[in-house]
Amino acid sequence: MKRLTDADIDPAPLLGKRVAIVGYGNQGRAQARNLKDSGIEVVVGLREGTSSAVRVVADGLEQEPLSSAVSGADVVMMLVPDEVMAGLYGEIEPQLRDGAALGFSHGLAIHFAFVRPREDLDVFLLAPKGPGTALRSLYERGEGMIALWAVAQDRSGKARETALAYGRALGCGRAGLLESSFAEECEADLFNEGAVVWGPCQSCLLLASRPS
Ligand SMILES: NC(=O)c1ccc[n+]([C@@H]2O[C@H](COP(=O)([O-])OP(=O)(O)OC[C@H]3O[C@@H](n4cnc5c(N)ncnc54)[C@H](OP(=O)(O)O)[C@@H]3O)[C@@H](O)[C@H]2O)c1
Repeated sequence: MKRLTDADIDPAPLLGKRVAIVGYGNQGRAQARNLKDSGIEVVVGLREGTSSAVRVVADGLEQEPLSSAVSGADVVMMLVPDEVMAGLYGEIEPQLRDGAALGFSHGLAIHFAFVRPREDLDVFLLAPKGPGTALRSLYERGEGMIALWAVAQDRSGKARETALAYGRALGCGRAGLLESSFAEECEADLFNEGAVVWGPCQSCLLLASRPS
């Protein structure tokens, strides 16, 4: 598996492009802030009535309602909970620009076809391998978090370059970008969370709750 770092990645595909971050939670906040500090034009798209707008503004970022954020963007990054991804994609699809790039940080929605992107779109995966708080703090320290990348649809012929430039702007190129696929990232992540992270936790809780 080839590991690409900043020296291998051209930042140009994102320069002068507008990136809409959809969702301002664990990943959305960290990714939006890292992109902005890397000199990328970022807008955060938020649902109506959200309380997150105050936080976005306090972080020095631009925010807009979802429909205008995505309609004005060259790259739209989907950073909402996986269980709402399909419904939300259905809402925003008519607003996406012809030939825009649609990004994900987890393979599930595409691998299981919960989201079937329009054919004119580029579709890429950039999955940092850790929580947003660490993605941000590593970036601030001049370090980076390892990430997986993949392309599911390449209508422009430049989806690979967009995915890599996106990962570089997140600071992940300081640690390394590893080529993967939506299927591999999804299955490895589900296995890791189910069997490695939460499996032992549940076993420990069961053991701890047994009378001695
Ligand atoms: N968390 C991690 O450590 C991690 C690591 C790697 C990859 N990922 C992936 O990154 C993606 C985002 O995960 P996350 O943990 O960052 O999610 P999250 O923190 O739960 O996302 C919360 C954000 O989503 C917005 N949201 C929720 N439902 C919505 C809806 N129906 N319409 C519009 N916006 C909605 C929330 O809006 P409000 O602000 O209005 O509440 C909030 O801004 C997922 O694909 C996940 O698998 C996560």
